Order: sequence, then structure tokens, then C-alpha cells
Amino acid sequence: MTILVTGGAGFIGGNFVLDWVAQSSEPVINLDKLTYAGNLDSLSSLEGNPQHFFVHGDIADTALVKRLLQEHQPRAVINFAAESHVDRSIHGPEDFIQTNIVGTFRLLEEVRAYWKGLQGQAADDFRFLHVSTDEVYGSLAADAPAFTEEHRYEPNSPYSASKAASDHLVRSYHHTYGLPVLTTNCSNNYGPYHFPEKLIPLMIVNALAGKALPVYGDGQQVRDWLYVKDHCSAIRRVLEAGKVGEVYNVGGWNEKPNLEIVERVCTLLDELRPRVDGQSYISQRTFVTDRPGHDRRYAIDARKLERELGWKPAETFETGIRKTVQWYLDNQEWVDNVLSGNYRDWVAQNYEGRAV
Ligand code: NAD
Ligand code: DAU
Repeated sequence: MTILVTGGAGFIGGNFVLDWVAQSSEPVINLDKLTYAGNLDSLSSLEGNPQHFFVHGDIADTALVKRLLQEHQPRAVINFAAESHVDRSIHGPEDFIQTNIVGTFRLLEEVRAYWKGLQGQAADDFRFLHVSTDEVYGSLAADAPAFTEEHRYEPNSPYSASKAASDHLVRSYHHTYGLPVLTTNCSNNYGPYHFPEKLIPLMIVNALAGKALPVYGDGQQVRDWLYVKDHCSAIRRVLEAGKVGEVYNVGGWNEKPNLEIVERVCTLLDELRPRVDGQSYISQRTFVTDRPGHDRRYAIDARKLERELGWKPAETFETGIRKTVQWYLDNQEWVDNVLSGNYRDWVAQNYEGRAV
């Protein structure tokens, strides 16, 4: 038995691979293009471990995917590979169309051909699990109920539109060809190995570097935060027991406005690594021009996953955010390696001229 994971050198895929190897003896093939967001440093603890087999490549490379499926005969494919950052999709949507839509389509085509060739139990047991996002559902009014799996799709950014397209392709491959698919739509993740272009790691890294903490708009946008290891446990559970063709929303029941997140990160840093001048890190907070088309609120109703598969998050926001801040303090070398020339170019592109 083997599984094939795509995008397993990224934030969530990397955590998933690490947890998989820690909890199972089943080998994992990890196909990742190593874009700016892919980082083999995150998997350095697996070096020399025969249970993890890394392949540098693109999910849109049909010949490569065909060969990997034939050689390794996985019982499941878990698709994390994507362009994932909303701000980058606003500056340059093309890569999002290529990987999230064309890439997922090509992967599905190869997986379908492979699955058609499986016999008996192997064909029945095979699963294609597609990892998606709550952003496909669009933005919620302040008093609206949280997104259920029946909520209509209303993606607002090139990123969420490309993920929505990929979800529809996955759905259609089940409906039309019978491919045994599962889809998860998860809320905002945070935790170890999170690339510091996203809110929480950006705030930690900038705070420690004495830089501004850029809050978009009024900072009252609400996100529903889930510790990444809980997302990984939800995916394992859906893979194990999810009903073929079904969609499962994954969330942490932790709705919080961005300003509250920034304040919590600052108070934790004040406690764990106080500034030498005795001031709070919150003094570095700066309000900057808003993200174009910024979704106001996301909230996930994860009751289906709890009711049908018995999944619940293990961490509260309080325990998860403390672990996360501590992880960044303990892993300065990982952070330093990430803050390369490419990263500096992105920061200049996204934040220069944005101050208000
Ligand atoms: P990430 O950007 O950290 O990692 C993406 C990984 O995919 C990288 O390792 C990258 O090199 C790889 N990749 C990109 N294009 C590829 C291609 N064409 N072929 C092979 N590999 C490729 O993203 P993440 O935050 O870990 O998100 C993983 C998945 O989870 C994405 O599908 C994302 O939409 C979804 N998701 C993310 C969140 C979140 O809060 N981060 C929440 C819900 C869902
Ligand atoms: O909801 C799930 C999604 O969460 C995933 O599908 C995406 O892949 C993931 O990137 C994340 O999207 P967001 O846009 O919600 O995450 P981000 O960390 O970029 O921003 C979180 C909030 O913080 C959002 O309202 C924008 C705001 N923000 C972000 C940055 C980077 C700021 O105020 N300042 C910033 O500098």
C-alpha cells in the first residue's frame, strides 16, 4: 500500500507528510514542483527515510504522473498542490489558472486512466482526495450562518475562482466517470512551516525583525482559524471513512477578526520574547491599503464531518497559536532560509506604496 501526495513540500502538505510518516508505516510518494512556496527544509527530518519518496515535478506533467502511478500503484492520491496566496493571485493570476485548473485537470485525467486499469478490490478501494478551501463559497455577512457543504459557490478572487473550478472538475469526474473522489473545503490554517507571506507568520516574522505589521483596511475581516495538524487529521479521517463523491467542510470554530489575531500574536511575543526597549510589539502595527475585493468574513460549519465521521479539532485557538509562536521562535534557521531574494521581491511588490 502506498499513497501519492501532491504539493507535499508546502505548508499543509508538508505537515501532512510529516504526520503520515509519524503515524503509519505506509510509504508516501511526494510530488512537488518546488515553487517559491515549496520547501524541502520542512521535510529535512525525513532525509534518508525510505518511507518518504520525493519527486520534483509538476502535476500538469502528464508523462511524469502516468509513470509515477504505474510504478508505485498508489491506493490513494491526495491533491494539495496549488498556488495558494490570494494577494499573489491579484498581482498575477496566470500561475493560478495553470496549476489549480489545468494542473488539476491533467492530474485527474491520469488518475482516471490509472483507476480504470485497476481490478476488483483495488479499484473499489481507490480514492482521489482533493484539498480545497472555504474561499470558494465567497464572503459572509456579519450575521449570516456559517458555510455548509450546500452553500452556493461565489468565489471572489482569481485564487478562489481557480480553486472553485478545480472543485467542479473533481465533482464532474465522479459524476461522469465514476472516479471515487472526496473533497474537503477547509478554513484558514496556521502552524509550523507556514510561509511568511500569510497573515500569522508574516506578523511573527515582521514583529521579531522590528518591521511594520501591515493590517489591510480596517482589520475587521473575519477568518475561521484551524491549527494545521487538525486539518491533517481531518484529511486522514475523510480518506479513511469519507463517502465517495461527498464534500466535507473542515473548520476550527474559531472565528476571529484580523486585528484580534495581530494583538494575540503581539501579546504572546511580549511574553515569550519581550522587546529590549520594553514596549509592546503592537506599537509596530500599521494600517495599509486594503486588498482589492477583500472578502469580509468566512466561517465554516464543520458539523457534517463531526456527525458522520466523528472528527473534531484537538486544538483551541489559544493552544494552537501559542504552539505556533513558540515554533517560530525555536526555528529561526528555517525562517532565515525562507527569507530569500525571491521573498524580498514579493514583499516589495505587495507592500511598497501601500501605507496609509
Ligand atoms: P502552499 O502554497 O504552502 O503549498 C503549495 C505546494 O504546492 C508547494 O509546495 C508548491 O511547490 C506545490 N505546487 C505548486 N504548484 C505545483 C504544481 N503545478 N505541481 C506540483 N506541485 C505544485 O499551500 P498550502 O497552504 O499548503 O495549501 C495546500 C492546499 O490546501 C492548497 O490546495 C490550498 O488551496 C488548500 N488550502 C489552504 C488553506 C490555508 O489556510 N493555507 C486552507 C484551506 C485549503
Ligand atoms: O480560507 C482559507 C484560505 O486561507 C486558503 O484557501 C488560502 O490558501 C490561504 O492563503 C488563506 O487565505 P487568506 O487570504 O484568508 O489568508 P491570508 O493569510 O493571506 O490573510 C488572512 C487575512 O489577513 C485576510 O483577511 C487578509 C489579512 N492580511 C493578510 C496579509 C498577508 C492583512 O491584513 N495583512 C497582510 O499583510
